[in-house]
Amino acid sequence: MENEVSRRTFLQWIIASLSAAIGLVLGGTGTGYFLSPAFKKEDEGWIDVGSVREVSRGAPVKLEFTQRKKDGWMTVETRSSAWFLTSNGRDFVAFDPRCTHLGCPYRWDADKKQFLCPCHTATFAVDGRVVSGPPPRPLDRFPVKVVRERLQIIPQALESGKA
Ligand code: FES
Repeated sequence: MENEVSRRTFLQWIIASLSAAIGLVLGGTGTGYFLSPAFKKEDEGWIDVGSVREVSRGAPVKLEFTQRKKDGWMTVETRSSAWFLTSNGRDFVAFDPRCTHLGCPYRWDADKKQFLCPCHTATFAVDGRVVSGPPPRPLDRFPVKVVRERLQIIPQALESGKA
């Protein structure tokens, strides 16, 4: 008789423990879902693009990076790029790689020290100003910062080039 009582007690203890474990898992998941926006990192949206050492002073460098976007249950990866420039190795500028006329990709001409857009023969100065051609404004820029010698940008926060 004493064995039956202790077996019953044991089974009740197991069931209570499993219920508590399930409750903790479900409660933690639900709480995390509802509270996560309050604890989101301030720097969300910044993407690591590469080392500051990849950009030499005075000569723009095009760096490629991968963007990951959640679409429902899927994560979609896209390759993008940006042109980086620094004059002192501490402060950096990141240009959108699309021309501000009709979006063609431009390139850096080291001899002329200008960006050249082949679509309608536009040229931009090293600081992004329009030198010639039809573009209505300077090159657009990404917000950029340096964290532990790494370049980071926010690709979705493109800042329009100011004329
Ligand atoms: S798209 Fe670059 S000049 Fe037209």
